[in-house]
Amino acid sequence: MKIPFSLPLLDSLVEKELLSTLYETGWITSGPKTKEFEDEITNLCQSNYTVCVNSWTSGALLLFRWLGFGPEDEVIVPAYTYAATALSVINSGVKCVYVDVNDDFTIDVDMIASKINSNTKAIMPVDLGGFPADYKKLLELLDSKKVKSIFNPKTDFQKSIGRPLIIADAAHSIGALIDGLPASNFADFSIFSFHSVKNITTGEGGAITFKLFGKEQDLEIYRQIKILSLNGQTKTAFEKNQPGSWRYDIIDCGLKVNLPDINAAIGLSQIRRYKNELLVERENIFNYYNSYFKDKDWAILPPIEIEGRKSSFHIYLLRIKGFDEYQRDAVITNLGHNGVGVNVHYIPLPMLTYFKKIGLKIDDFKNSYKLYMNEISLPVYNGLGLDSLKLICEKLSEEVEKSIINIK
Ligand SMILES: Cc1ncc(COP(=O)(O)O)c(C=O)c1O
Repeated sequence: MKIPFSLPLLDSLVEKELLSTLYETGWITSGPKTKEFEDEITNLCQSNYTVCVNSWTSGALLLFRWLGFGPEDEVIVPAYTYAATALSVINSGVKCVYVDVNDDFTIDVDMIASKINSNTKAIMPVDLGGFPADYKKLLELLDSKKVKSIFNPKTDFQKSIGRPLIIADAAHSIGALIDGLPASNFADFSIFSFHSVKNITTGEGGAITFKLFGKEQDLEIYRQIKILSLNGQTKTAFEKNQPGSWRYDIIDCGLKVNLPDINAAIGLSQIRRYKNELLVERENIFNYYNSYFKDKDWAILPPIEIEGRKSSFHIYLLRIKGFDEYQRDAVITNLGHNGVGVNVHYIPLPMLTYFKKIGLKIDDFKNSYKLYMNEISLPVYNGLGLDSLKLICEKLSEEVEKSIINIK
């Protein structure tokens, strides 16, 4: 492929940080680099604390475990997302409830209102492509007298929140903003992914960030989640390795999902220049696509900035007006033959075998299908040059316009 759909940023700064892990600290599992990475995320998100984990998925499983959700509890997710969103709920033994999305690809808050009952413990909006869900509207709903009065908390933590939690699937949206503030400020917990295609990567990795109460109370939550991420062990291997610190205890039935330093080093070298450099470059790529496609009457541009909600420019979710799945797929195949890698985000959950088997039907999620059938995700990554962008736009337009003529 001349222009791949995705490429991780692996440059000399990443190499320097990796070499420092190998030869300066000599510590490759969780230790100083992971802690520094956690602090950088906290700083970027203006949150109180961040727990790094080895994937978004393990972060979600860990958080559900810490929250103590059980089989009678319900978590509401959008049907238009990557499978991990729903599977994290299902694999935690919690009931997953599905709703449709709006035209901007984010969860339909009005539909959430119709699904909330006394078992609802959390909503998990997805910031698809990096565009934040409407957290302000969601908060208004969850803070309403009606929702608060039916909320049935089971733990002291749930009681202290007093309404269903907002757990953001922010796998795509590190750096997204709402009213100029990090979007994670509008959720109770936000979970990021640092998988190799994400805006910041650690190869595989993830993080849970939060600002719930004061610093002191949140520090206690950080400690508890951290311990749970390490088999319930009270100390990391790094802490145990300090002089006279070998003794530890296991205080909970934890998971083992910590992020190693060797991975954190990659993300650390990226996050330090994320806001002022890497994110700006991604925004410029989005702007290039926008200015090219804005006058094409067949192009439906993705949401980028609407009423204070601003994308993190993760995936450019272009849609082709009037196209069905088959016309869209033909364009993708032809682009592939021309050396341009594109993708589709996502096949809605009710169209996937497992979710069909458990009873989901795409006819119940009409908007998800409408968005999916003509969506083509275009490459967005650091280092994608102007020549490549021009070629992507020209080849795509050529293929779409050829296809339109054939239809006529
Ligand atoms: C929306 C969304 N949620 C969750 C995940 C899972 O992330 P991870 O692979 O880090 O577990 C992904 C991964 O692509 C995703 O796109």
